Amino acid sequence: MMKRTLTLITAVLLTLVQAKALPVQQRQIISIETENSSLVLLVHENGRLETVHYGAHLDSPEQYLQRSVKTDDYNGQRGDTYPATGGRFVGEPALHVRYADGNHNTELYYTGHQVSQKEGCTSTTVHLKDYVTALEVDLVYDAYRKEDVILQHTEIRNGGNQTVELLNYASSSLYIDADEYLLTHFHGTWASEMQPESELLGHDLKVIESRRGVQATQGNNPSFLLSLNTKELSETDGEVIAGALAWSGNFRISFERDDSHRMNILSGISPFASAYPLKAGATFQTPEMIFTWADEGAGEASRNLHRWARRYGVYGGGQINPTLLNSWEGAYFNFTTKTLLGMMDDAAGMGLEMFVLDDGWFGNKYPRNDDKAGLGDWEVNKKKLPEGIDYLAKYAHGKGLKFGIWIEPEMVNPASSLAKKHPEWVVQSPGREIYQGRNQWVLDLANPAVQDFVFGIFDNTMKLAPNIDYIKWDCNRVIQSFGSSYLGSEQDRFFVEYTQGLYNVMRRIREKYPNVIVQCCSSGGGRIDYGALRYCNEVWTSDNTDAVCRALIQYATSFIYPACVMAAHVSAVPNHQTRAVTPLKFRFDMACAGRLGMELQPKDLSAEERALADRCIGSYKKYRDLVFQGDLYRLASPSDGSYYALMYVSEDRSRAVVFTYALAYEARTVGGKTFRLQGLDPSKDYKVSEQNVDRSCWWGDGQSFKGDFLMGGGFNPVLGSRYSSAVFLLEAQ
Ligand code: GLA
Repeated sequence: MMKRTLTLITAVLLTLVQAKALPVQQRQIISIETENSSLVLLVHENGRLETVHYGAHLDSPEQYLQRSVKTDDYNGQRGDTYPATGGRFVGEPALHVRYADGNHNTELYYTGHQVSQKEGCTSTTVHLKDYVTALEVDLVYDAYRKEDVILQHTEIRNGGNQTVELLNYASSSLYIDADEYLLTHFHGTWASEMQPESELLGHDLKVIESRRGVQATQGNNPSFLLSLNTKELSETDGEVIAGALAWSGNFRISFERDDSHRMNILSGISPFASAYPLKAGATFQTPEMIFTWADEGAGEASRNLHRWARRYGVYGGGQINPTLLNSWEGAYFNFTTKTLLGMMDDAAGMGLEMFVLDDGWFGNKYPRNDDKAGLGDWEVNKKKLPEGIDYLAKYAHGKGLKFGIWIEPEMVNPASSLAKKHPEWVVQSPGREIYQGRNQWVLDLANPAVQDFVFGIFDNTMKLAPNIDYIKWDCNRVIQSFGSSYLGSEQDRFFVEYTQGLYNVMRRIREKYPNVIVQCCSSGGGRIDYGALRYCNEVWTSDNTDAVCRALIQYATSFIYPACVMAAHVSAVPNHQTRAVTPLKFRFDMACAGRLGMELQPKDLSAEERALADRCIGSYKKYRDLVFQGDLYRLASPSDGSYYALMYVSEDRSRAVVFTYALAYEARTVGGKTFRLQGLDPSKDYKVSEQNVDRSCWWGDGQSFKGDFLMGGGFNPVLGSRYSSAVFLLEAQ
């Protein structure tokens, strides 16, 4: 009895001692700054770290030192820079852990910070620590001054001697204060990716999330725009925060507006089925969350992200990638060497610069003649291509074309030698059905042996011919009924380690093959994110090549991702996905707003169509530097189905290209449609020349006009019929 009482007294005393040990700090400001924005953190006397401002650049952020603190013991604490479950905090946590003794409480306090310079950015690391356990958290902010972009990630370190379970482990938490919050995010499905949706957020929790494991971005992209103090998304006015998570796996972005009306945005890996065991002494690093703040509308927010992406966020960003002919929609699985040589002849004849051999080139015992067999068996199909890939690549190079090839290395068909040889490599839950998607299973990239195998597929494919210039990396299903035989009882690690495994492979690929162009495809746009783009030059924006549907998909993609990554192909009509028929020029004009390609059998084009193709490809080469490197201005949204228009302007504002499209019929009697151009130098004279036509649809074609005239409403081409379109090149005189 005596002993028990003593133990109790000791425990209470210990608690009191710990409670007294709350840190004491000097009140101070940490200001993370870009040219036009500031993120201001306030360290309170008790070591609590609060986010007090993200918005316009503040010259005197230290004025926040005078701000009085109200620790609300009724509603709980708000505004923590990285709120953890525990203490006075009762909202959605950035961090929630379960300690070995079952305890759920963490209270993070500031212990110090450092500032250093990195390539293009100032990096600030703020150290936090739980005041009872040995759990430490570093918040890392990389501020790209010129681009007005701030990256945040978190490093969580278990300094204790027992495993800690990470239940929530956000990359970032961002408290903001406004009267209205208009959220725009991008949902979708196969062949209909990046559908923009806007809603005013109330006092509730709004979550956008993916639990698909791979192909994670097809249903929801890990990105958003938040327009502040407005009910409408504006291209040109008002405060907008844009964010994108650099992670290709399950993600979760939540918006919680609490009773103080403030909004906390949490972004990071989805905690779904992923209570991550952080071993003693281990550190977990979260993916980067990329933010920008703009006060001139969504247009400016996008341009900030694009500039950052071209310089730092996309592999080979801003480099001009070649125009190409892809074999998929023109040949599908049915080809021989002869078919492909014919396509190469035509591609070269039209002035295209690369030929890409898509699906169907591999498998012998289980030949890839449709999507039911062959994935996993990456040897050249001898029946279709007896001369081998080397022969094809040489032929392409001889024609002055680059050569690319398709792989889908993360997947396996049950009908394959690989599935028979390594059934344990397949993602599966013991004793349960292994569900198929597109007749295939997923390989377990959490397993290092599978990572080696997947790296080997890339490596061996590169060795099929000297100088393979381009790899299209595909990934055509989601993960269901997940499970890894490699991870044994630690299945909670699966989703995180699958994506980390993918990045391990990509890192190795980039070390060995820095120059190969890699397209990231996942049934179209199922893997469009800045995590994959660190290793990939471009994305296959969507399997939907119908130019009308592409207007919305490309428009929405452009909010977050730069045009240099957006592969856009001209395909045949009736369109293979939608059966819609649109004019060839309309299809070209749509594809020319991204990285132009063609995906059809050129032999099916008439002489007249071929001539138009030659012409459009030729003119694209004259202005594509603007598409790849210029600043984007969206002039008209395709959302309401009437007109779509956009333009790219060179950094020095001496050149621009304007794309205009009529998606519906508008009464011709009303004359031209006025588009107010943007981003030009008001005082410069620009010569305007419409591309790819003999007779222009604008009265001013061939003449020069002042930038202010073109921006002020003087530009009104007549887009009289449905699916008419026009592209104009502007050159300062
Ligand atoms: C996916 C891709 C297509 C094509 C096919 C091949 O659907 O998105 O572009 O490569 O696979 O099977």
